[in-house]
Amino acid sequence: MAFELPFFSSKTPPLIGLDVGSSSIKLVELADAGDGVVRLERYAVEPIPRGAVVDGNIDKIDVVADAVRRAWRRSGTRIKNVAMALPTSAVITKRIALPGNLREEEMEMQVESEANQYIPFALDEVSLDFQVLGPIPNSPEDVEVLIAASRKEKVEDRLAVVQAAGLNPIVVDVESFASRAALERLIGQLPNQGEGLVIAVFYIGANTTGVSVMLDGEAIYEREQPFGGQQLTGDISRAYGIPADEAEQKKRSGDLPANYEDEVLRPFVDSATTEITRALQFFFTSTPYTRVDQIMLAGGSSVLAGLPEALMERAQVPTSVISPFKGMELSPNIRERQLRLDAPALLTPCGLAMRRFDK
Ligand SMILES: Nc1ncnc2c1ncn2[C@@H]1O[C@H](COP(=O)(O)OP(=O)(O)OP(=O)(O)O)[C@@H](O)[C@H]1O
Ligand SMILES: [Mg+2]
Repeated sequence: MAFELPFFSSKTPPLIGLDVGSSSIKLVELADAGDGVVRLERYAVEPIPRGAVVDGNIDKIDVVADAVRRAWRRSGTRIKNVAMALPTSAVITKRIALPGNLREEEMEMQVESEANQYIPFALDEVSLDFQVLGPIPNSPEDVEVLIAASRKEKVEDRLAVVQAAGLNPIVVDVESFASRAALERLIGQLPNQGEGLVIAVFYIGANTTGVSVMLDGEAIYEREQPFGGQQLTGDISRAYGIPADEAEQKKRSGDLPANYEDEVLRPFVDSATTEITRALQFFFTSTPYTRVDQIMLAGGSSVLAGLPEALMERAQVPTSVISPFKGMELSPNIRERQLRLDAPALLTPCGLAMRRFDK
């Protein structure tokens, strides 16, 4: 077992956030614009051929590395240090309490022995890291420690991709942690900093839809289900007899026959709405919570026309599509119209790019 893998590295030279999704590579560079203002310098979204990343596993390292290289070039960035993340499903996390006065090595030993008890594979196949979260209110002698563990090969595959693309991985985070960091920035901009609000955030990607329910800076519920925009691409491809990559491109450009909205898009929006309201029901039945105050939508498929409206009507909860760059300055080379379509998909890479400002 090794501690050299910086899940929670606190070194913060200039870095870019890099997200490897199942449909695309997403890259974000943020900079400090002074006076507490952050600037979006540049970003890129580069498609990955189908089948290269499946269920969070990188099946074709070379193909994905090529896409990373293209994304990097196209973005125009010069920064080679990268913060990346493992899929939430590939990481086991656990919070434990340890005495606050342990030395670093003692803490490592405690973490290892704790990890031994709950990790279902041999420890020499595991990458492990931990982070001290802070004192525990009711037992001042102890600190709360967050442990993250993942199979080594999952980490190594991602490092191999980034290195093959000529970049330098310096932070390996977890997707849900990174998106939560970006989200907390947004929630902090709500009236009263969103205090007391139960906010359900849905990330509708290409193949998965994740939900996190947030309350006062904590994720009180997290789930993932297999549902996403890839299905709509398949529907388009079948309806009009065109290949999937053409369907994908036309879905984004909107260049489709007149009956698309009624006959293909609307049924998909309906089933997305059903999936999401079902996920909410599941949240209510499996937790003590009985209400959600707001729904926020993120992920590439959240921009589909009519989705927030349909959901708001069905769930009777105010619903909006979010941009992780809200309140940031935009560099002059950013095209705002395109950014509006791309931004909701950039929550995770934005959270990763924010690692640059870690204290
Ligand atoms: N402008 C757009 N209009 C419609 N759909 C879009 C648009 N932009 C992206 N999408 C869809 O969003 C999906 C990609 O979203 P996202 O980038 O969040 O997923 P991913 O991270 O690649 O996949 P996953 O998280 O499921 O592994 C694709 O299905 C894509 O077709
Ligand atoms: Mg994703």
